[in-house]
Amino acid sequence: MKKRLSIATFKKMKQEKQPISVITAYDYTAARLAELGGIDCILVGDSLGNVVLGYETTLPVTLEDIVYHSKAVSRGAKHTFIVADMPFMTYGVSIEQTLLNAAKIMQHGQVQALKLEGGVEIKEHVKALVQAGIPVMGHIGLTPQSVNQLSGYRVQGKTREDAERLLNEAKALEEAGAFAVVLELVEASAARYITSQLTIPTIGIGAGIDCDGQVLVFHDLLQYEPDAYPKKFVKSYANIGQVVTEAIQAYVQDVKSLSFPEQKHSFIQEENQQAIYGQDR
Ligand code: KIV
Repeated sequence: MKKRLSIATFKKMKQEKQPISVITAYDYTAARLAELGGIDCILVGDSLGNVVLGYETTLPVTLEDIVYHSKAVSRGAKHTFIVADMPFMTYGVSIEQTLLNAAKIMQHGQVQALKLEGGVEIKEHVKALVQAGIPVMGHIGLTPQSVNQLSGYRVQGKTREDAERLLNEAKALEEAGAFAVVLELVEASAARYITSQLTIPTIGIGAGIDCDGQVLVFHDLLQYEPDAYPKKFVKSYANIGQVVTEAIQAYVQDVKSLSFPEQKHSFIQEENQQAIYGQDR
């Protein structure tokens, strides 16, 4: 049986140059499939706000949403390392509030670690979580919870100054005890530089080919939304949206044409017993 990764394994995988695979999942079935697919780590991302709940940003996602979805994911992937996002403003206000909210996700969501967006400004919060025994994955670059402050979903680290700023953020997280850091939408050479300067692994999304691991959103990887605009950094491995739409169209057609259900889908009295009612069609 597959053995669940530990935070020590993450570091070892970086040292041994073994790429780390991460996918998001938000429910029991998706988590089961991710585990069957051999994924190293599942992220219960607050991207669930976009792809499951239909919000435009991740800001409306609540602590209760994350706990609810983490519970389902942890039931579906019992042998996989699961990280859950701390939603917008559930951390970073006071250390006490960060710890109490983190405890709720860990206890009720049954996950192994938490992910927080930000760098230097949340260093003390990360330190407090780690001291409380909660593994933390950092997240810098494009941080969707700050989309309004960042003026949109823009690539980060495109100048030397900005790349140095990102390195500084990553170093702060490493010093605070984070076991890994997500680099989202970071210019490729900046991501390579940051990766080379850290002892903890970087997990890239839209951050080039040199990160220690990669993460993709479940719905992007499987192309769940047939009319979603294509994202440069995504590779889709299936076209599930089309498969599902076609299957539902076929079902609708069958119902309308009386082709479904057939006799074989029906519960019929044994041959020696009489039908309870006469036949209408
Ligand atoms: O919420 C999420 O899915 C994420 C990934 C994009 C890293 O934070």
